[in-house]
Formats: sequence, structure tokens, C-alpha cells
Amino acid sequence: METLLLDSNTWLLVLTGAGVSAESGVPTFRGMNGLWEDQPVEQVASPEGFAKDPLRVWRFYSQRRAGAAGVSPNPGHDALVSWERHLGDRFLLATQNVDGLHSRAGSQRVVEMHGNLFKTRCSNDECQRAPFEDTTVYAAGTVPGCKDCGSLLRPHIVWFGEYLDPADLERIQNFSLRAASSGGRFVFLAAGTSGAVYPAAGMVDQVRGAGGETWLVNLDPAENSRRFEHSVQGKSGEVLPKLGRLV
Ligand code: APR
Repeated sequence: METLLLDSNTWLLVLTGAGVSAESGVPTFRGMNGLWEDQPVEQVASPEGFAKDPLRVWRFYSQRRAGAAGVSPNPGHDALVSWERHLGDRFLLATQNVDGLHSRAGSQRVVEMHGNLFKTRCSNDECQRAPFEDTTVYAAGTVPGCKDCGSLLRPHIVWFGEYLDPADLERIQNFSLRAASSGGRFVFLAAGTSGAVYPAAGMVDQVRGAGGETWLVNLDPAENSRRFEHSVQGKSGEVLPKLGRLV
């Protein structure tokens, strides 16, 4: 197997997806065939779905909270923590996962592009209340309300059809600009993601455009596989701990 040299010249941007949490027991979107209770997940992970049936949406996310609370980070998460400790500010982890496992493993420079399952916010954009930590598994039939304005609360998740937080995109962009202009080696590694959901799936092209080196670690061929220069097929919990050569 190829190895990825991580030395004092290297800047590393990592993108993770659901596959990285699969070995922890969190089902992937593709693994569920994009379905929940035989219905497309979009029905419970979209603003339209929330407007139509907030009870159902909270039942879905309460189930996911209960499931994700009982799992632990795996050796793939741990490998990324050791890479970050080695590279310091020359490392950034962008994740599409909302399960919080990277932070629980010890990653610190993390951008949660799609939000966090254990945060809640007010559904009223005018409300001043900030998103807050919330591990509550709400009983079926319950939709929590905002104590400030009385509107419904919603999971702090980027749903289908919603925009990513511009501050998150800016953080990734700034890191990439610094990496590309550092005079060092800019490396992008995507792991456990099907490359189907944008803008994350387009990061490989941006890095290549900036002269960066691109790596993919995935169990199945991703939709954007051919756009990576280096590709390792396998489970991230097995591949990542062996891939990085810390110098
Ligand atoms: N190691 C590495 N890769 C794996 C593993 C594993 N142990 N298990 C599965 N995979 C791969 C699969 O082959 C698949 O290509 O992980 C990928 C998971 O793909 P998706 O389920 O589509 O997950 P992801 O790419 O994170 O989805 C993107 O879509 O559902 C929305 O917003 C949600 O963040 C999510 C986004």
C-alpha cells in the first residue's frame, strides 16, 4: 500500500463522510439506501419535511441521537487525531458527519459542514437564540419549542436544499489559500464519502486547481473517484492508521 508522507512541509486538508463512522456502527446514508422507515430521507431531512411534519422529523433525529450516543470513535478517527497533533495548524478536518465522533476522538481543528446532531436551534431565523448543545432524545410525539420566541426548535443540521454556513466554507477556503501559497506541499484526502453531495464533492477539483495533491480512501468506488490522483480502496478504520507516515 502507498503511504502518505506527513512532514514539516505538508499542509493537509481532510474531508470525511459517513463511511468513516461506519466501523463505529453508525449507518451510512448509502447503507440505508437513502431511506428511513422505507421513505426517502429527504422527507425528514429538509425544510419542506419539517414544515409538513415536525413530529416525524424530531422522531428521526431523536432516534439518530440515541444511536450515535452509544457509539465510540474507531481507529480511523484516532489516526486523524494523531495526524493533527503532528501537523498542528497545517491540518484541517472538514466533515460531513453530524455524529460528533471526530471531536469525541480528540480532533480540534474540525469544521462540521453539515451541522451537529447534538445541537438544536430555533427554526425562526429572526430569533436571536444561538444554536445550543442538546443531547435530549425527545419522546415520540414531542416537538420542543423555543423559550425565547415560542417557535419550534429544529436540529442544527444542514438539510437537503439548505446552504452551508458561509463561515465554515470561508474557514476551509482560507486554509486552502494558506496551504497553496505556503511554498509547501498541499494535500487533500477524502475518506468514507460517496462524492455525491456538493459542495463537499467538489473540493477535490478546487484543490487540484490550486496545485494540490489528492488522495481518496473509500470502501467502494466513489462517484468522483477518477478525479483523485491516489486512491486506496478499503475501510478507513484499517487504512488510515497505516497510511500516514509521520516524519
Ligand atoms: N471505510 C471507508 N469507506 C466506507 C466505509 C468504511 N468502513 N463504509 C462505507 N464506506 C463508504 C461507502 O463506500 C460510501 O461510498 O462511505 C461512503 C458513504 O457514502 P454516503 O452514505 O453517501 O455518505 P456521505 O458521502 O457522507 O454523504 C454525504 O449526504 O446524506 C447526506 O448530508 C448527508 O453528510 C451526508 C451527505
